[in-house]
Amino acid sequence: MNHTLNPVDAKTYEGNLIYLYGDEAAGRTLPLSRKEIEVVRERREHERDFVAVFDRLPYHLYFVSFDSERQAPDCQERLRCTAAKVLRMLTADGDADAAITAGGTLPEEVAAFVEGLTLADYSFDRYISKTPHHLQNLTIDSLFLKPAELEASERLWNRIFWCREWVNLPVQDLNAAQFAEELASIAADLEGVSCTVMDLKQIQSLRMGGLLAVNRGSVDEPRFVVLEYKPKGRQAKEQPICLVGKGIMFDTGGLNIKPGDYMSEMKSDMAGAATMASVLFAAADNRLPVHLVALLPMTDNRPSANAYAPDDIITMYDGTTVEVVNTDAEGRLILADAIAYAAKNYNPNVIITAATLTGAAVRAISTFGIAAMQQNADRPMTLLRLVGEQVYERLVEFPMWREYDEMIKSSFADLRNSTSSPQAGTITAGKFLAHFAGDSPFIHLDIAGVAYFSKAQQYYCKGASGYGIRLLYAFLQMQDMMKK
Ligand code: BES
Ligand code: ZN
Ligand code: ZN
Repeated sequence: MNHTLNPVDAKTYEGNLIYLYGDEAAGRTLPLSRKEIEVVRERREHERDFVAVFDRLPYHLYFVSFDSERQAPDCQERLRCTAAKVLRMLTADGDADAAITAGGTLPEEVAAFVEGLTLADYSFDRYISKTPHHLQNLTIDSLFLKPAELEASERLWNRIFWCREWVNLPVQDLNAAQFAEELASIAADLEGVSCTVMDLKQIQSLRMGGLLAVNRGSVDEPRFVVLEYKPKGRQAKEQPICLVGKGIMFDTGGLNIKPGDYMSEMKSDMAGAATMASVLFAAADNRLPVHLVALLPMTDNRPSANAYAPDDIITMYDGTTVEVVNTDAEGRLILADAIAYAAKNYNPNVIITAATLTGAAVRAISTFGIAAMQQNADRPMTLLRLVGEQVYERLVEFPMWREYDEMIKSSFADLRNSTSSPQAGTITAGKFLAHFAGDSPFIHLDIAGVAYFSKAQQYYCKGASGYGIRLLYAFLQMQDMMKK
């Protein structure tokens, strides 16, 4: 979708027009007939948030009423959701162009509406013969929206689309090697970004026992991808923020094979890696002044004659031994190696993981936010939570009490990869990861509930969401402001 900033005269505009109306005091003459004004006024007495559609043959006028007195994040999120509804009406009609006029509204409100409209326009249609309608051109009439900010947002939205596309791709068309190659080719075109792809041999010589164990059942090689973004003119020595993403290209559960329906949608088990790569690329696109390293362990998890088995004891990158209790708790094994690698080699400012790690996270908070945990990272976690409320990609912090440590102790090894109890599954997984961060500040984001939606919700279509990219991007933007 092309976005252009241009003045629009609501009264004479010939085309589909979206009129944002948040405040009676807007002081603008409405592009409505007297009768239509009555309809709108009457409706607004009972409810503030609605869309009234008026015929302007052959076009439509979408009159979007909203309540500008609500708290800003809530107001903006409602605007994103309303925008998604308007988008569906437009594309159902097969319309390719629309304009938004927004006199009297705040630039953040217009921006939120445009964001909702844009994010809602994505669908995974590369395998569908008859491509669904998409909006091609959006003209935005807003005096105070800055062109540079709109362009930066467009680049961010594009990265969200790419993330969704990767996550939606079935493993038949995106295995570890293919994903690594794709990331390397994007990195090659981006200023300040370097990419190192480690193959099976290199992963073996690094002794990444977790990644190697999970990969044993696969016919495809694993990859360990390290992306680094160094902003121009910054001290090379600045401690990086390390972004670790779970890259399970498909999770069958391994020998502890997933029963019934639980295996469907498991192509999305690499959403953490896709998220972290997209955040780093978006930061590079927009030249954010923060030093970043993304560490992405990738493999699929399958049963086979040579697959790793329950009772196996493996030695991880940092020397920790782990008893495999359940081959379906594979995410923490590949992440542990990457976290330990980050802690040992990068002197990180903070390590952040994104992973579709536990079904328990979905059971705890459903599909409305991220289950988060931290160790030695109270301050960055507070900041992350706050920016999460702002951009409405929210997180809730789970405790990391030492009592949980007992649950992941093994009789025959240093740790076990799964507990004997059905309780606190999200936390014990987080605890397992935290072990490998050592003293480095560590934040873990369990995105199992939000990475992939089984049906459309808000401004997300069915499938991959890219949830977490806007959150982390906003967090990175704030980092620099905090330093000043
Ligand atoms: N990839 C799954 C977690 C998951 C479940 C993500 C549902 C998205 C939706 C993970 O590898 C897994 O299988 N976790 C197990 C852990 C258990 C065996 C300790 C789980 O949550 O059941
Ligand atoms: Zn699993
Ligand atoms: Zn998994």
